[in-house]
Amino acid sequence: MTLIALFSRFVRGTLFKYETVALVFALLFLYGYVFHRDHILRSVFRRTLMHSDAGPGPPVLMRIPGLNKGGLAGRSNGHLRYSHSHRSSHKQFESQNDVAHWELREDNVAVYSIQGRRPGMEDRFDYATGEKDGVTEKFCGIYDGHGGEFAAEFTEKLLSQAVLARLATAKRRQLPVNHSQILVEEILAVDEKFLTVAKSNEDMAGSTALVALITDSDVIVANVGDSRGVMCDGSGKTVPLSYDHKPHHPQERKRIKKAGGFIAFNGVWRVAGILATSRAIGDYPLKDHKFVVADPDILSFDLDEHNPQFLILATDGLWDTFTNEEAVQYIKERLGEPHFGAKSLVLQAFYRGSMDNITVMVVNLSRHRSNSTHVQ
Ligand SMILES: *[C@@H]1O[C@H](CO)[C@@H](O)[C@H](O)[C@H]1NC(C)=O
Ligand SMILES: *[C@@H]1O[C@H](CO)[C@@H](O)[C@H](O)[C@H]1NC(C)=O
Ligand SMILES: *[C@@H]1O[C@H](CO)[C@@H](O)[C@H](O)[C@H]1NC(C)=O
Ligand SMILES: *[C@@H]1O[C@H](CO)[C@@H](O)[C@H](O)[C@H]1NC(C)=O
Repeated sequence: MTLIALFSRFVRGTLFKYETVALVFALLFLYGYVFHRDHILRSVFRRTLMHSDAGPGPPVLMRIPGLNKGGLAGRSNGHLRYSHSHRSSHKQFESQNDVAHWELREDNVAVYSIQGRRPGMEDRFDYATGEKDGVTEKFCGIYDGHGGEFAAEFTEKLLSQAVLARLATAKRRQLPVNHSQILVEEILAVDEKFLTVAKSNEDMAGSTALVALITDSDVIVANVGDSRGVMCDGSGKTVPLSYDHKPHHPQERKRIKKAGGFIAFNGVWRVAGILATSRAIGDYPLKDHKFVVADPDILSFDLDEHNPQFLILATDGLWDTFTNEEAVQYIKERLGEPHFGAKSLVLQAFYRGSMDNITVMVVNLSRHRSNSTHVQ
């Protein structure tokens, strides 16, 4: 009896007071805000978490629903007439220390890719040719995803296909081909398509894109973001094929500022304090304001002039631990290996402590070289 009386008094005295009700509402609001904020931060800042210098602590990761890895390997090539296109998940193995890896060896191209010390894999690569359509160009692409694998996967699926289709059409109609223009237009088209899908899914993923289109006479390189290509030329010299799009580089900083954005230091310099690359496919919240753009830089290299021995295309996981010259020297000594040295280079970067996923593609152009030397 007294217990019930006491309880009811307590209820009347505290729970029904305005202050209590207000406090409860305030707490609920705060909880909702923090939770929501956390949710957004986790999606947007995933790249930040990955790339922050906060050390090897496990990052907070959320799976993006609707992405099943198995689907990657199962792409049907049936309706495509291009001879090859490879998922990075084409072959996956688990090594003894639990580092998943992917590899490819075809024609004069080798790729080796590891997941590194992070859970999950967001790097993608692509090697594709269109021989059946009489297209002689070879398409090599490296895509380093962030905020999930969706953007990298999307780009990998669409870009080479679109570029090779353009080349096939030009070939059929005997039209002159401007490779630079095709690369620019198709990269922007893929970005636009991706943004449409990403917005409707509220998926803020993004990806770098580094593409080398090898023709009979040139290598045309398109770059969006901070993956990087280098070439070892005929005299053994290191020639950069691309320049990273980093937010703090004067030109990029100017562009971002002009769009009304800012960069902030958070481990490394980041667009709006979030993204460590200033150009990317996807990243719709930042792209809406044009803080981040997908416009590629194009550089073209005459094969006869440079007489290249090989090309290296790699994600920033490699370049965190290797300079351009070091990487070229490393491959030069290992071009005779089964992966043209790509595997050794990836593992060496891993041993040097790269925390990232690492993908290295080596294009062995020695054959072209010996041909040209003959000619001379
Ligand atoms: C790659 O390079 C090596 C060493 O220069 C050369 O012997 C080999 O023939 C090349 N392989 C291909 C497939 O181009
Ligand atoms: C490496 O893999 C993890 C797991 O998906 C991914 O979250 C991380 O972003 C990747 N590294 C980068 C920066 O691509
Ligand atoms: C090819 O296209 C690019 C970009 O549209 C342009 O700047 C360049 O002048 C074109 N080259 C030729 C040879 O027409
Ligand atoms: C290069 O050499 C191969 C065979 O050695 C030959 O079939 C090919 O036509 C040559 N290519 C060029 C560009 O001379």
